[in-house]
Amino acid sequence: MDKVRIGVIGIGGMGSSHAKRIAEGQIPRCELAAVCDLDPSRFSAFPGVKAYEDSAELIRSGDVDAVIVATPHYGHTTIGIDALEQGLHVLVEKPISVHKADAERLIAAHTDEKQVFAAMFNQRTDPHYRKLKALIESGDLGKIQRTNWIITTWFRTESYYRSGGWRATWEGEGGGVLLNQCPHNLDLFQWLCGMPTSVRALGAIGKYHDIEVEDDITALLEYENGATGVFVTTTGEAPGTNRLEIIGDQGRVVCEGGKLSFTRNETPTSEYCANSPERFGKPEVWNCDIPVKGNGEQHLGILKNYVAAILDGVPLVAPAAEGIRSVELANAMLYAAMTGTTVQLPMDSAVFEKHLKTLIAESTFVKKTDDATDTSLKNSF
Ligand SMILES: NC(=O)c1ccc[n+]([C@@H]2O[C@H](COP(=O)([O-])OP(=O)(O)OC[C@H]3O[C@@H](n4cnc5c(N)ncnc54)[C@H](O)[C@@H]3O)[C@@H](O)[C@H]2O)c1
Repeated sequence: MDKVRIGVIGIGGMGSSHAKRIAEGQIPRCELAAVCDLDPSRFSAFPGVKAYEDSAELIRSGDVDAVIVATPHYGHTTIGIDALEQGLHVLVEKPISVHKADAERLIAAHTDEKQVFAAMFNQRTDPHYRKLKALIESGDLGKIQRTNWIITTWFRTESYYRSGGWRATWEGEGGGVLLNQCPHNLDLFQWLCGMPTSVRALGAIGKYHDIEVEDDITALLEYENGATGVFVTTTGEAPGTNRLEIIGDQGRVVCEGGKLSFTRNETPTSEYCANSPERFGKPEVWNCDIPVKGNGEQHLGILKNYVAAILDGVPLVAPAAEGIRSVELANAMLYAAMTGTTVQLPMDSAVFEKHLKTLIAESTFVKKTDDATDTSLKNSF
């Protein structure tokens, strides 16, 4: 194969953006061979491209070698499994699944290593995070003591939540800010700092919006090496803050406002603490602004990497199997907040799945949408 025939399943906001990039030739060595959506009115944006209303038909059509799944969240698991079982390469939008048990099922369907199975974690292409990862891995920050991410720049209006019937219900979306906006941050958080071993959290359901899912979370994390962390997010705050601060034995690195700053201790904190005769002293520091240009190729970079992985076998920037970690973190934070308990990780995926099914079964929430004919409501649990 020297050209990958790609089918995009779900051509709403995100899927149509991916499909347009492919149709416009922004990604070498691939073509937009087919699109699929429950809503056929979307097909006119892709004249001349084969169109399907049923993903199962597209997957079995023989028209495509690879798919991109950009439907609402529950479809990532069901459609992803179907495409993997039919031998296609799969790129799935974030989150890879709504809950950990579904992520396990999805990952288990990837049995052939010749099949490329990727996730759209576009922020992994951002040089701020790539440099931060290199810094941590180089050991220059020392053993991590504390992590702190305040990511409250995800402000959303009521109009946003009304824009899709699937949004902000347990049955349609499966969660709120943790599952829709934060998969990127949760993925980066674990990519940079590893998975915590326990999570506790405070949170609120529909605190700022007429929704039945969470829109405000403050989580406390504990890591195996004794480090602690805080993760704060909401869709109800403006202007919002995006500040990632990681403290290690050899200093502090802060990613904020497009800048990556490393304040490096001349002497590791633990060594200074043990050996300094000063009662109130602290290590001398060097301030280093780490040069970073731009925000990387983002979605385009992941799409190019997907095609290159299929044709040339290059390593994936974001293998889908790693997507289970951000799903688990989102599930754990939500469960901890809703039950007032501390969740030990790895968490029991069956417990969370049961919790979510109960929320769906007991829901009395009446979803408001701007479009009474919205077909995305069909995409239920
Ligand atoms: N990576 C990113 O930066 C990013 C940004 C936005 C959205 N997303 C993700 O993309 C996905 C879609 O979000 P969106 O904002 O485009 O939503 P959207 O509502 O605009 O689009 C979803 C589309 O999927 C269609 N659809 C629903 N069920 C389907 C099915 N079973 N088969 C085929 N089509 C189906 C709907 O009709 C709709 O056109 C979500 O998972 C979301 O989290 C990712």
